[in-house]
Amino acid sequence: MRRGLAAALWMACGAVAAAAQDFTLREGHGGPIMGVAVLDAAGRIATASFDNSVGLWSGTTPSWRDGHRAAVNVVAGLPDGGLVSGGDDFRVLRWPAGGGAPSELILHKGKVMGLAVAPDGGVASASWDGTVGLAEPDGTLRYLRGHDGTVSAVAFSADGRRLYSGAADGTLRVWDRETGAETGQLVRGGFGINEIALPPDDSWLAYGTVDGVVRIIAPGDGRELADLTLDRRPVLALAHDPVQGQLAIGDGDGYIMVVSTADWSILRDFRATTHGPIWALAFSPDGTVVHAGGLDEALHSWPVARLGAQDPMQDAGKSFLRDPAEMTNGERQFARKCSICHVLTPGTARRAGPTLYGLFGRRAGTVPDYSYSPALESSDIVWTAETVAALFDEGPDHYVPGTKMPMQRITRASDRADLVDYLRRVTRPAKEQQ
Ligand code: HEC
Repeated sequence: MRRGLAAALWMACGAVAAAAQDFTLREGHGGPIMGVAVLDAAGRIATASFDNSVGLWSGTTPSWRDGHRAAVNVVAGLPDGGLVSGGDDFRVLRWPAGGGAPSELILHKGKVMGLAVAPDGGVASASWDGTVGLAEPDGTLRYLRGHDGTVSAVAFSADGRRLYSGAADGTLRVWDRETGAETGQLVRGGFGINEIALPPDDSWLAYGTVDGVVRIIAPGDGRELADLTLDRRPVLALAHDPVQGQLAIGDGDGYIMVVSTADWSILRDFRATTHGPIWALAFSPDGTVVHAGGLDEALHSWPVARLGAQDPMQDAGKSFLRDPAEMTNGERQFARKCSICHVLTPGTARRAGPTLYGLFGRRAGTVPDYSYSPALESSDIVWTAETVAALFDEGPDHYVPGTKMPMQRITRASDRADLVDYLRRVTRPAKEQQ
């Protein structure tokens, strides 16, 4: 009976959505989209990106929140209209509702991969340092220890009194928020847990693992309610919509599956992109639209009723997703190893690294509006064929100790030479190219 009603409602709303709304693309980030959150009943969206920024979207127009010093992995809304975000710079930043500078809410010793917000505004963070951070509204800050390995996901119970955490050690633990004590393990001995989702009435808890297991369990005792495991693809995103009763699952192969939480039947299962994983998922407030982010830098929004009817994430492929067979070795090196963080065109771009336009002959650390590490800014390197090759022969961490460019070496001399040749051609200022 209930199921019939839910299905009828779902179909009716789906039809309305399909008529009223089309596929939407939100473009502007300069790197993959790692996290997305719907902030309020009006459907305001925030995105977390590899380009170090948080995007706040008004319709399809972005405004940027810059404050992280590395990739941003996760973003969540606060009850007061503000935001929290967590990143590879080990920090959780709090962004005030009216705009303005962020403040550091939690500082970990490893990347921050998950965030949860309690109804009273308390914030929990999951970190690769193996702890769960817990920042209370009164300013108290605690780090809950117990996991044996990186923590990837956190979630609060509906009343905010319990906290759930999932980690690479294969356990899903329960914590009492007041005492900070671990009160039980709902899952143990499995593969690493990446994601957790709970509905507002605590009637079930969903978790997804690195080996593709998706299970629904009872939050009280861990009893299994449903097993949605389809394949051995890492689960990277979970989103719940309580209005229509849907759970969306995004995986490492670019699939999005939507299941009904009334009977755990599959409503939609389609490959959203052939270019990498789905890292970010969220539903619109009325549950009729699903937002998804991944490798191709844009946030894609589909009416749920039309999921699978079209495949636009492939069409929106960027240059670094081009067919490698069509490229020279130097271009391929750049596409695979650099383009995710660097552009070759003048001016600022929303990327993790500075533009490489005009690189050769330029002193290190001198692109005007890029914010370099002190290490690179104060070095006296001038970029030439030799110094660029040396950077990747030795690796940035050795060549410029203290740089924020990640560890990376190109071991084959011919690959380094091809890359440098390619860069010399394509980074030359336009007036010199004639
Ligand atoms: C994950 C992101 C990332 C990748 C991948 C990456 N870089 Fe970088 N790169 C950076 C960052 C961040 C900086 C700025 C470092 C600093 O301020 O310490 C940088 C700086 C540089 C600089 C110095 C630029 C200047 O203005 O002084 C060069 C040259 C460079 N990168 C080349 C490359 C090349 C070539 C590749 C591919 C083989 C590459 N990078 C891959 C993030 C990246």
